Amino acid sequence: MAMDRNLALEFVRITEAAALACSRYMGRGDEKAADQAAVDAMRKAFNSVRINGTVVIGEGERDEAPMLYIGEKVGQSSADAPHIDIALDPLEGTTICATGGVGAISVIAVAEKGNFLHAPDTYMDKVACGPGAKGSINIDATPEENIRNVAKALGKDVSDVTVVILDRPRHESLIAKVRALGSRIQLIGDGDVSAAVATGIRDSGIDLLLGTGGAPEGVISAAAMKCLGGDFQGKLKFRNQEERERATRMGVTNLDKAYTLEELAQGSVMFCATGVTTGPMLKGVRLLPGKRALTESIVMRSATGTVRHIETEHCLERKPGGFGALGW
Ligand code: FBP
Repeated sequence: MAMDRNLALEFVRITEAAALACSRYMGRGDEKAADQAAVDAMRKAFNSVRINGTVVIGEGERDEAPMLYIGEKVGQSSADAPHIDIALDPLEGTTICATGGVGAISVIAVAEKGNFLHAPDTYMDKVACGPGAKGSINIDATPEENIRNVAKALGKDVSDVTVVILDRPRHESLIAKVRALGSRIQLIGDGDVSAAVATGIRDSGIDLLLGTGGAPEGVISAAAMKCLGGDFQGKLKFRNQEERERATRMGVTNLDKAYTLEELAQGSVMFCATGVTTGPMLKGVRLLPGKRALTESIVMRSATGTVRHIETEHCLERKPGGFGALGW
């Protein structure tokens, strides 16, 4: 059975639950507790969705992650439920959440069986842009070429292009090149999924993502860009032999391959994210008087290109199962 369109709205409950749970730890300096809260809530929320789900991008390999590990079966399985692969990150931006920074999200992407690249937990060189510049980026091109081509596609001067880059020592030379060209830069501490997705959101002010981040996050970003009609390309980057071997074990045959969006996320996909802390894509969890909370989520499907923004007001005391157990 193919992926049902109603499923997209089921998944938003799952990211909402994870976002609500970890937002409890916003700014409290405890990354582990924040991540654990998101993982526990997401794992539990999956039980209410009728799917035969398999986690293909998750918290880690089975021996290192007790929950939501790669290969774990999730959902209320049954013979007539769809078989789907799931790429998830219960808390994308653990440090952001722990410091109350910008743009932490809880995210799930879904594809039909076998359609996501089974990305190992290594790095990936990435380039992402929105629909207006689709077709003008290339992971093998220089940063200057990518910026010039995106500027041309968008009808902007190079100096009016804004590039988002993770603030890391490894990006020193990339940042220097972009500065020399005269483009604007937004340096971010963490969270390159919301940064990639922001390139596809009209009023985000971000045109292009460049640089190296996590490979699992790359696959999730590709799914989002497919729904938005944007573009994404990536190339795995290994730090050592062990990482290369892990990639081979996970089925990657050509370690130097430049992946197109279509190769990272094939066929029909869905993407769903809820903001934990406010960022370029989504507002974070806001607490209202009377134990109520507001969340903002985005739900998208590549088949139709529909982008839904969902604002939900939650009554925390009446949640099934109770959020008391999560510290609410
Ligand atoms: P976590 O939520 O796992 O902490 O990831 C945050 C993140 O910033 C990602 O968005 C990004 O892809 C990756 O880490 C970058 O890795 P590093 O921090 O090693 O540069």
